[in-house]
Amino acid sequence: MFSGLIEKFRVKYKSLKFRLILWYSIVLILVFVVAEGSVYVYLDRKLHKELDFLLNKEATELARKIKFHDGEFIVIDSTEFYEAEHVYLNEASVFFRIFNENLNIVAVSENLKKNEVLIAEPDRKKFGGANEVVINGERLRIFYLPIYAEGKFQGLVETSKFEGTVQVAMGLLRTSLLFAVFLAFVVATYGGNLLISKLINPLEQVIEKADKITVDNLTERIELKGEKHPDEIVKLVNALNRLLERLDKSFRQISQFTSDVAHELLTPLTIIKDEVEITLMKKRRVSEYIHTLDLVQKQTDRTISIVKSMLYLAKAEAGIIRANMHEVNVTELIRELVLTFNFKASRKNIRLRFYCDSDVVITTDEKLLFEALKNIVDNAIEYTNSGGKVEIICERRDDNVKISIYDTGIGIDESEIPYIFDRFYRGKDAFEINPSGSGLGLALTKSIIEILSGRIEVSSQRGKGTEFVVYIPGK
Ligand SMILES: Nc1ncnc2c1ncn2[C@@H]1O[C@H](COP(=O)(O)OP(=O)(O)OP(=O)(O)O)[C@@H](O)[C@H]1O
Ligand SMILES: [Mg+2]
Repeated sequence: MFSGLIEKFRVKYKSLKFRLILWYSIVLILVFVVAEGSVYVYLDRKLHKELDFLLNKEATELARKIKFHDGEFIVIDSTEFYEAEHVYLNEASVFFRIFNENLNIVAVSENLKKNEVLIAEPDRKKFGGANEVVINGERLRIFYLPIYAEGKFQGLVETSKFEGTVQVAMGLLRTSLLFAVFLAFVVATYGGNLLISKLINPLEQVIEKADKITVDNLTERIELKGEKHPDEIVKLVNALNRLLERLDKSFRQISQFTSDVAHELLTPLTIIKDEVEITLMKKRRVSEYIHTLDLVQKQTDRTISIVKSMLYLAKAEAGIIRANMHEVNVTELIRELVLTFNFKASRKNIRLRFYCDSDVVITTDEKLLFEALKNIVDNAIEYTNSGGKVEIICERRDDNVKISIYDTGIGIDESEIPYIFDRFYRGKDAFEINPSGSGLGLALTKSIIEILSGRIEVSSQRGKGTEFVVYIPGK
């Protein structure tokens, strides 16, 4: 049963609301108990101190009126013995007993005789101070005043008084304090519950709303009913809504991307299928079969190139491709790039030139940098008409290398510039000029430059030409 209760508590303790109420109540009650306990202890001490002061005063007065001589007890003035507080039995009664050096009683107050209160033997350890005993459920405060003469113990005056009013006052205080603690408990649990529920309520609204959001309604946003919600809750809702915004965007991008991939792969595969079907319809000449196979080869190459680029992009995004850094002579790399594209450029009657500071050396990944620049130079030649020119300029700029690829080609429309680095994006005129392109070249270039911690900029004028500038860091 006990372990069942602990288990129940553990389950409940998981709830923020329960924890808040629990701790709030514990702290509130503790504060009450400590504060009220201190008041109680202070008052108790104060009242007893006053009682002791009175008993001390009475004992001193009695001691002044008596004397011990050679063990004999002598009363100098007996008026004090017969004062009302020593004779009558009431709230104000003060009892006394006087003892000789052997602690034998030599005098007793009148009211003590009447009351028949049996007070125990004086406690030597308490001489000079107060003691307390309980007689028939009532507390009796006792004060001992020892009498010395020439350093010798002569006798003892013992005064005592029932605590009566002090006891009643402290009892009343105890009850009221207990009641106050009980009240604090009720306020802490019920009040705390009300207060915390009010604060937590919007959180529950958020949970309920967030629970209802699935991939089908990612466009929905969390809204809180009512006004004046705590700042933290408003911040949480805003953060969740921003998260939803990002998720929605990524989700839309993924769906768009999937449909783009499907579409891009479907085109070459459909061409292959149609061409093969038509070819197989009847017996053909060898040259016709060669033509079909040639087309199948081109389209298969295109499909492979798309799949390869896609795989590369996916790896780059997943962070699988890591730069293999070492010293690279960028001047040499660009010379090689120009050699690679010389044939393509001269076939289109385009002048391809490069101007580089001699031996620009930086620490970077050679293969990745070559791949990134290859796509830009390929575009520059591809989208430049016969008679045009393409120039590559590389120069050192502090801790960067700046590589500009400039062409006098068809240029890019200003409205298209924001999209050219998107996957599968192709300009209006791109298909006509370069029907086999897939729109992945610049997307790849951009993701590679990001791996190399560089950046790429583009400026272009329609009909005049384009300039891509790549900055690669490396000492
Ligand atoms: N130097 C350039 N001059 C004019 N337009 C360009 C140039 N470079 C890129 N573009 C435009 O940007 C688009 C995207 O280029 P990207 O290299 O990504 O794809 P692509 O060249 O069409 O195909 P792929 O490179 O995959 O074969 C191109 O379709 C073209 O419209
Ligand atoms: Mg390209």
